[in-house]
Amino acid sequence: MSFVTSEEMMRKADREGYAIGAFNVENMEMVMAVIRACEEAHAPAILQTTPSTVKYAGLDMYHANVACAAKKASVPIALHLDHGNSFELAMQALHVGYSSIMIDGSKLVLEENIALSKRVADACRACNIPVEAELGKVGGKEDDMSCDDPGYTDPDDAVRFVNETSVTSLAVAIGTAHGIYKGEPKLDVERLSQIRKVVSIPLVLHGASGVPDDAVRECIRRGISKVNFATELRIAFSDGIKEYLKGDPDVFDPKKYCAAGSERVTALVKEKLEVCGCVGKA
Ligand code: 13P
Repeated sequence: MSFVTSEEMMRKADREGYAIGAFNVENMEMVMAVIRACEEAHAPAILQTTPSTVKYAGLDMYHANVACAAKKASVPIALHLDHGNSFELAMQALHVGYSSIMIDGSKLVLEENIALSKRVADACRACNIPVEAELGKVGGKEDDMSCDDPGYTDPDDAVRFVNETSVTSLAVAIGTAHGIYKGEPKLDVERLSQIRKVVSIPLVLHGASGVPDDAVRECIRRGISKVNFATELRIAFSDGIKEYLKGDPDVFDPKKYCAAGSERVTALVKEKLEVCGCVGKA
């Protein structure tokens, strides 16, 4: 089927009390592996690419790849620009055919974040494409983006932000971080509940790799409708390949070792879909 928008998926998830899994993909093998997992689990999903990923191969390449796989898939798939870092990149993704856009102005001061997010939301609304923005700063490092100075989302700011920007979903900072955690993350779930009480659009949890399953479930119970997983997928794909090469160092057919990486990704995504509660929701 052709792409659906992330808004359709998330609004249903929000109503029914589960979350959509959003999975970062880097290459054709990961695209196929994630979609295979979703089909086996009868789950809808969002596939997403960061600015450094699209720098690697181009928005048009990822769009063509995911669109082709989604067309053949038996479950709804959305293609999302993750952490769009400029108005220009957001517009390029919109133009190429992404069905969901994130603009990340979280490093800006509140007024500038509002202005940038509103500008993107206004442009995307004309094409019926939903926009996720971020308020507060999710810590850690993802690709070439890093944040050493995380800041939690303030519920009052969130109300103002949503009213003034008209974005369709909001990524909140409640203690998660991108990348690998040193210890167990301490999440401010009370803050999440406070935000949920005053903001009616779907809420997004970033930095879910390494967050214990029960903590992710608790966040969903308190109002998260989209959960982002990137680092764990990259590790799974790489570990599968490394292990295959160790067992057969003379292999020269990429299909063989990439299949080993893909199998790991499919198994991991199925686990994450289960945690999100979206198995059987397609
Ligand atoms: P992780 O790399 O921690 O899974 O974070 C993913 C993410 O939030 C992508 O935006």
